[in-house]
Amino acid sequence: MKISSFLTLSVYGIKSIIFKNKKPILGTIILTDKCNLSCKHCAVNNITAVIYPYAQIQKEMQSLFKSGVRILFFCGGETCLWADGDKNVKDLIREAKKMGFLYVILVTNGTFPLDIPEADLILLSLDGDKEIHNMIRGDTFDTIMGNVRSATTDKIVLYMAINQINKEEIPKVCKIAKEEKNVMAISFNFHTPYTGTEYLALSAAERERCCHIISEMIKENVPVFNLQSAFPYIVHNKFPTPCYQCVVMENGKLSTCGRCVHIHGLCEQCGYFFAAEYALVFKGNIRVIFDMLKTYLKYI
Ligand SMILES: C[S@@+](CC[C@H](N)C(=O)[O-])C[C@H]1O[C@@H](n2cnc3c(N)ncnc32)[C@H](O)[C@@H]1O
Ligand code: SF4
Ligand code: SF4
Repeated sequence: MKISSFLTLSVYGIKSIIFKNKKPILGTIILTDKCNLSCKHCAVNNITAVIYPYAQIQKEMQSLFKSGVRILFFCGGETCLWADGDKNVKDLIREAKKMGFLYVILVTNGTFPLDIPEADLILLSLDGDKEIHNMIRGDTFDTIMGNVRSATTDKIVLYMAINQINKEEIPKVCKIAKEEKNVMAISFNFHTPYTGTEYLALSAAERERCCHIISEMIKENVPVFNLQSAFPYIVHNKFPTPCYQCVVMENGKLSTCGRCVHIHGLCEQCGYFFAAEYALVFKGNIRVIFDMLKTYLKYI
């Protein structure tokens, strides 16, 4: 990220904290819920399988920009399945940059070629070594690793959702993050128990153990793109929800924090690290604010 963009975001953040502003800064647009995979832990794929049209996404971008969002995520379903005529996700990223978004991130399952240098960051889901990842995500590990190695960007951050199946896999995925030349860092979430996936959720004791392992990995110089100072709040779900500075737009519908905000009782079991990290920062938690500055200066 350009230093000017970083300063703009920092000033915005400071103002939000001082004036207790609830304006969003971080926005996600869901391009489609269509997906080529059907992962065990996922409850948001192929519900309608509609790919939203370019003009609609463009309007949603304008609306988010107008509301104050400056960090934009494109997500799905499988984000890289998005296309409208001759347009693909690369066109959407270019359009977003032209509109003035300061940082544009694409979230993907990595099964399509990663020729997307336009993205400031690619969050690429990897949920274990070959055996465990494939157990969760189908036979995709080799394809994904091939795409990582031939990517035209080195701004890839591995994105691991930790659950009952892969809770022992953290060091193995960290090793991949450390060794692969196109991988810049690794970022974690804990399983959020949507209906039908409750059996994959971790107890507080299990989350604590995972955070301990992640902390050990940080000591071993694994590039972890999470805020260690927020771990105790995440382990015990002791952060304010929802996070008002994050919004999600799907098919014209705007939700505060995540689409999951509409599911009764889910926020109390939230496993999304970003929700905790941003909510704590904007509540003025000094340790988390400094941790965010230090971490973001390193990775973005
Ligand atoms: C919904 S997917 C969409 C983008 C893309 N298809 C992918 O898999 O990266 C975005 C992220 O949410 C994670 N995810 C899905 N279900 C989850 C759950 N119940 N709890 C926590 N993370 C979850 C996925 O593992 C993935 O990293
Ligand atoms: S690839 Fe992403 S959207 Fe598709 S099923 Fe898996 S987690 Fe869900
Ligand atoms: S706090 Fe967590 S569960 Fe609640 S809306 Fe935000 S991301 Fe979803």
